[in-house]
Amino acid sequence: MRYWIVNRQSRSIVLIGMMGAGKSSVGACLRRRTGLDLLDTDEIVASNFGMSIPEIFAEHGEKKFREAETEALRRVRTEEQTIIITGGGIVLRKDNVEILRSRGAIVWLDADEETLFARASRKRNRPLLHTKHPRKAFSQILGARRPLYANIADIRVDTSVLTDEEVAVAILAKLRRMNSKPESPIRARES
Ligand code: S3P
Repeated sequence: MRYWIVNRQSRSIVLIGMMGAGKSSVGACLRRRTGLDLLDTDEIVASNFGMSIPEIFAEHGEKKFREAETEALRRVRTEEQTIIITGGGIVLRKDNVEILRSRGAIVWLDADEETLFARASRKRNRPLLHTKHPRKAFSQILGARRPLYANIADIRVDTSVLTDEEVAVAILAKLRRMNSKPESPIRARES
């Protein structure tokens, strides 16, 4: 059994970043490598509504989705170390940012815009891209969000040219480095 201590006060690993950043697939790699449980706010919201994210947007609107997203985040308990995967818009609400900070080390998965857009448009499950000009919409959303991701992140990993496994390795290495700083109470180990 592998075993990680990410940080004594807030031990979970929180993945943030734009649609297409690879949060879900990297989260799965992290789970395999660490043995930690994984929670996904999109999955929690979809399961609570009993419908897919595009259906929630279509039937209830983005505002209701955002409220449910905050509620899902509030309910995420991290007494146990956990990997928490968030939707790309989680940083939009101040409340969410506070909750995320209290949950763990915040890891921002970033990539160049073209790469993010190409990945995000592979599936038709992103309602914010169901517009006449998805490329333009994506650019605007990314421009508005990058400062928000940057503001909250403890760690940033550029995933543009990395495989999901390489990203997971990079995250764990960065967490280890961060945790071994003398002024920090954080440490990581594997057994
Ligand atoms: C959203 C991203 C989606 C999902 C919803 C809204 C966003 O999650 O939460 O469609 O506002 O960027 P992913 O980041 O996993 O695509």
